[in-house]
Amino acid sequence: MNISDISSQINTQVLGSVLTIKFNRPDKMNSFTFEMYRALTKILNEIEDDDDVRVVVLSGSGGNFSAGNDIKDFVSVVEENGMDRGHDAPAFVDTLREFSKPVVAAVEGFAVGIGATLLLYCDLVYASQDAQFRTPFTHLGLCPEAAASHILPRIMGRARAGEWLLLGDIIPADQAMRDGVVTRVCDDPLAMAQEKAMFLSKMSPKAVADTKRLMSSQNEILRKAFDEEMIKFAECLETEEARAAFKSFLER
Ligand code: COA
Repeated sequence: MNISDISSQINTQVLGSVLTIKFNRPDKMNSFTFEMYRALTKILNEIEDDDDVRVVVLSGSGGNFSAGNDIKDFVSVVEENGMDRGHDAPAFVDTLREFSKPVVAAVEGFAVGIGATLLLYCDLVYASQDAQFRTPFTHLGLCPEAAASHILPRIMGRARAGEWLLLGDIIPADQAMRDGVVTRVCDDPLAMAQEKAMFLSKMSPKAVADTKRLMSSQNEILRKAFDEEMIKFAECLETEEARAAFKSFLER
């Protein structure tokens, strides 16, 4: 596969059997476009059966992981009848959830919205001390996605999940680690992620894949929770409050 041709908004690098994928839209804090979701989905689907790639590392360019869905694209989904493109993000999350090989994330700077919730599908998450996590769905008149409403209360307790999902607080890296979203806070998350990925890539692929599958026994429940969220999310997108929040961000 010639991965480099897929999108200029996604960079890839292969080292040994480790594929590092970098979100590459630094001027917009690596916020995700439809093109990026489609490219990521395509890459994951193609390497699923590629024995030369055993582990994937996800990271962002320019000092940030990702500021979440591009807000302009939310507007285009609602106002330009772009609901067909509205399926690109769910398709990416579905693919990531079902992906059989280990995914290791390296987070610097902001991880917001789906830039934070996608971490719930990563097997290891390394973050810099200054990384900040935020799921500001309610601020935007939206509800959670990627089954975050199911996963977060279960990994951190409902009381802590309220700060993430209801208040939409900024969560510092140390707290995100205590909350069970981050594996470890370290000085150089990309180096750490690549080191751990390389280590994993040298282990028995069957043992690693079986372990990941056994750890993902809730996937069917997560799929249903995500489908349910998407119904509510589509309703929220149509509200005056959501439109006003997008407008206010875009007109700052
Ligand atoms: N969609 C589209 N553009 C985005 C974006 C997003 N989600 N996040 C950041 N950007 C753009 C900004 O519009 C700005 O572009 P400009 O320079 O052309 O004006 C650029 O990225 C830098 O962002 P800025 O807001 O100036 O940086 P900051 O350091 O002051 O704030 C954030 C960083 C992440 C706190 C802030 O950008 C933000 O809140 N972004 C929106 C996050 C969000 O709500 N995501 C969707 C969740 S569902």
